[in-house]
Amino acid sequence: MTRYSAAVTFEADASRQLAELQARDLLRRPLTVTGRRGAEVEVAGQWLVNFSSNDYLGYADDPRICEAGARELARTGAGATASRLVVGNLQAHDDLEAELRSWLGVDGICLFNSGFAANTGVLSALMGRGDVILSDRLNHASIIDGCKLSGATTRIYEHLACDDLERQLTEVASSGRSEQRVLVVTESVFSMDGDRPDLVRIAALCERFGAGLMVDEAHAMGVVGPAGRGECARVGVVPTLLVGTFGKALGVYGAFVATTANLALLLWNRARSLVFTTGLPPAVVAMCSEAVRLVQGADGDERRWLLQRNAGVVSGNRTMSASTNGDSLAYASGNRTHIVPVILGAESAALAKAGALRSAGMLVSAIRPPTVPMGTSRLRICLSSAHSVEQLLKLAQVLEST
Ligand SMILES: Cc1ncc(COP(=O)(O)O)c(C=O)c1O
Repeated sequence: MTRYSAAVTFEADASRQLAELQARDLLRRPLTVTGRRGAEVEVAGQWLVNFSSNDYLGYADDPRICEAGARELARTGAGATASRLVVGNLQAHDDLEAELRSWLGVDGICLFNSGFAANTGVLSALMGRGDVILSDRLNHASIIDGCKLSGATTRIYEHLACDDLERQLTEVASSGRSEQRVLVVTESVFSMDGDRPDLVRIAALCERFGAGLMVDEAHAMGVVGPAGRGECARVGVVPTLLVGTFGKALGVYGAFVATTANLALLLWNRARSLVFTTGLPPAVVAMCSEAVRLVQGADGDERRWLLQRNAGVVSGNRTMSASTNGDSLAYASGNRTHIVPVILGAESAALAKAGALRSAGMLVSAIRPPTVPMGTSRLRICLSSAHSVEQLLKLAQVLEST
């Protein structure tokens, strides 16, 4: 094989960058999960209680969902075989979109292959040069990248700060360019802090300033709101665009945008991450449909109740609430959330704490920059309806003693 001299340069550069990451405790590698049962995972031969997954309702190994996938696999095969706009749109895709329209009470649904693809696709399709996006400082990387891709002017407002948002909307309005479109974008339950914006106030500001509102419900869909319809539904806000994902509380993979019929049709024509990609495998889509059916019914209610109970156990535990960011515990009913950050600051401190927990049989990932801002390295504790009270109390006890 010919080794080009450019490859040598890339190798040397990679080694330098990796050494730098290692020296700063920022080097990351995936670990391999060799088994899963309920809220436990097997890693390197050890069964650990999993406090790091987004499977908040324990649907990832639900036999009804797996069987729905197996049936579709047997019927239509492995792959969608093309972009959905070509010949990769199967009945399973249409059925899932119909199921979502009925669950969420909207006219327009577009499936995307992931939440990342949805955020980048939607923002770059609908916003462009001359437009303005106002984005919460702690929005997810896919929103940040979507803003960049769009070419619109992006203004960052302080995390959850409606006063700052209002000030910036006033500035944008006073710039006097009536043709420019303005879009406010926020998560509804923030992925790394578990806190929530005041969506009612943000929606009122959007109304007053003629701005659109895009809400990423990745961590709320299925978990909160009536029939698990999310945080917007819980507070009675209908955003211009709602992004939901199937890879978290619904336990599968993929994403969707809920909007009007017209905007959905425009996305079919303009969203590059929808147009220029192979459709989701039909078996995956069938599993999503089954998860959507389960999550909106009694099964979902029961799991949401268990998750709330577990969040109550955690927030009621003095040790854990003392070591967490107090704000993040403000939640729908009382002081409860399913994402609990334990902010430790230094990367080494987060790694040490995660290591101590692992020795005690618990998997809690240390989350470090660039996922969170510098100086806020943390343990991100993700609760699931599948956790037992005993597992939660043991976590609290080990957190206290290490
Ligand atoms: C707020 C938020 N939006 C979008 C995504 C991306 O979703 P997906 O994993 O389906 O690509 C994530 C995933 O981490 C997220 O936390």
